[in-house]
Amino acid sequence: MGIEYIGGEVPVLLLIVCFLLAVLFAVMPLLAARDKDLVEPTRTQAKGLPTLVVLAGLALFIILAVVPIKAVAAEGAFNCGAVPCDHMEPDLNDKESLQRGAKYFVNYCMGCHSAKYSRYERVADDLDIPHNLMEENLIFGSERIGQLMDIAMKPQQSKVWFGVAPPDLTLVARARSPEWLYTYLRNFYKDETRPWGVNNRVFPNVGMPHVLIGPQGLLECSAGPKLNHHGGALRNDVGQVEVDEHCGALKEGKIKGSMSAAEFDQAVYDLVNFLEYVAEPVAVKRQAIGYYVLGFLLILFVFVYFLNREFWREIH
Ligand code: HEC
Repeated sequence: MGIEYIGGEVPVLLLIVCFLLAVLFAVMPLLAARDKDLVEPTRTQAKGLPTLVVLAGLALFIILAVVPIKAVAAEGAFNCGAVPCDHMEPDLNDKESLQRGAKYFVNYCMGCHSAKYSRYERVADDLDIPHNLMEENLIFGSERIGQLMDIAMKPQQSKVWFGVAPPDLTLVARARSPEWLYTYLRNFYKDETRPWGVNNRVFPNVGMPHVLIGPQGLLECSAGPKLNHHGGALRNDVGQVEVDEHCGALKEGKIKGSMSAAEFDQAVYDLVNFLEYVAEPVAVKRQAIGYYVLGFLLILFVFVYFLNREFWREIH
């Protein structure tokens, strides 16, 4: 506070704070003189809580922890609606996959879904996409690179068209899970009773049309094994696999896609990888910083260890 204030006039608030500090230092000896040495209190809870109360508390804790987990798990027999989730492991360091995913997302999804908590520029920088390429290929209409990835469709209109407004997808990978998305996007099938002629095994009676019909084609229901709770085939008493005639499996139908099944799986993988990235753009950086923090603590530990030895040297 003794140094010259760079900004010209010294703000009044600063003066007041300095004054109060000065007063505090001035009266401190008086305050200290009033301190009395008190008798050290005996520990208030030397005996601890009664065993019964401790056990009851523990039981309550376990109930409160387990019941919600069970309740959530009970929602469906499987994590992905009528089927177990297919495995997929996002790889946020695979920039090429993420770039392809971004391309699919703006082309196939942004007609209806926004990602309005994200900006084009951030995506371009994070995924190593040059700004001019981003502007030419991934940003449509009059949008500019600094803008949020919002869409023109109004929720009021889309609610009329689809029955539900398509939700924003910025955080969907965290709200659902990458496995759920990966399974959901690959499990649309033909169902003439639905308004769009399709249904979904993961999201029954979904309001979304099968937008990836071009690359995937239109799968149809066929007989397949009924599944037990672990996702394996359900067997009857004599060991035969029980068959679900309605929709136990999906098979290729009349409408073929432009991609093979393997290519399509890869495309959906890329798309979900991108959704995972956009749900937490700092994930890679956060992990990298984590290593530095652990390294710092490791080095600090050496110094603290010797400091501790120094402190206690004369005492033991
Ligand atoms: C023609 C418009 C349209 C397009 C294009 C579209 N969707 Fe949808 N989507 C919807 C609608 C409508 C819903 C709401 C469905 C419901 O709740 O019944 C939805 C729901 C979803 C959901 C479920 C959200 C949730 O958690 O409930 C996901 C995930 C999703 N869409 C992903 C995508 C992806 C990925 C693409 C691009 C491949 C895409 N959508 C393209 C209309 C669309």
